[in-house]
Amino acid sequence: MKLLHIDSSILGANSVSRQLTAEVVAEWQRRHPGTDVEYLDLAAETPEHFGIDALGVKIGQQGEPSQAQRRQNELSERLLTQFLAADVLVIGVPLYNFGVPSQLKVWIDRLAQPGRTFSYTANGPVGLAGDKTLIVVSSRGGMYPEGGALVPQERTFMRQMFGFMGITDVRFVRADGLSMGDGAREAAFAQARRDIQAALAEPVAVA
Ligand SMILES: Cc1cc2nc3c(=O)[nH]c(=O)nc-3n(C[C@H](O)[C@H](O)[C@H](O)COP(=O)(O)O)c2cc1C
Repeated sequence: MKLLHIDSSILGANSVSRQLTAEVVAEWQRRHPGTDVEYLDLAAETPEHFGIDALGVKIGQQGEPSQAQRRQNELSERLLTQFLAADVLVIGVPLYNFGVPSQLKVWIDRLAQPGRTFSYTANGPVGLAGDKTLIVVSSRGGMYPEGGALVPQERTFMRQMFGFMGITDVRFVRADGLSMGDGAREAAFAQARRDIQAALAEPVAVA
């Protein structure tokens, strides 16, 4: 079984999501010895923005690609191959400005490719990258009770985007209120650790 461990926080050693993804992976390995773990640090190795030279993989390249297009295609292919090979994804998703970090967004932009991770049919889009378990480690500075005026987008985005690519087994580890004082921070860690146990207790499709 292959697990792809991804961090996207820009806060280095002070990052909560980094600490928690490491705890998830350690617990995963304890429960599933022999798991092959690969690591991708999107803050240290941020893929370039998905620009016009990268577009060929989405629209079907016409003619011989330029050097710039070839370079972009190689980067997309490398990231997509790594993603497709994983059975389990553990992704650290800190909330930055009500969405996912741009470092994570540019990686996702490279994955969404017709014929590889999704296709459109007469009945609508079909995801092609299913049979994976996605564990989203979600850290927030604030707390956003349901029905409030402020609605962060990152959890919905992760569920929708990976669901679009066929991944429906999405599990969340949540640490909310990390900037709201020591008590709230302690409670956030306690909640996250309960979520880790619950997320990893569920069976996985791939043995
Ligand atoms: C650039 C930046 C933007 C942030 N934006 C938000 C935000 O919109 N809402 C929020 O509740 N917290 C926000 N925070 C706080 C983070 O969500 C919080 O520090 C969390 O721990 C980040 O995870 P990390 O420690 O793994 O980076 C922001 C933090 C940074 C550094």
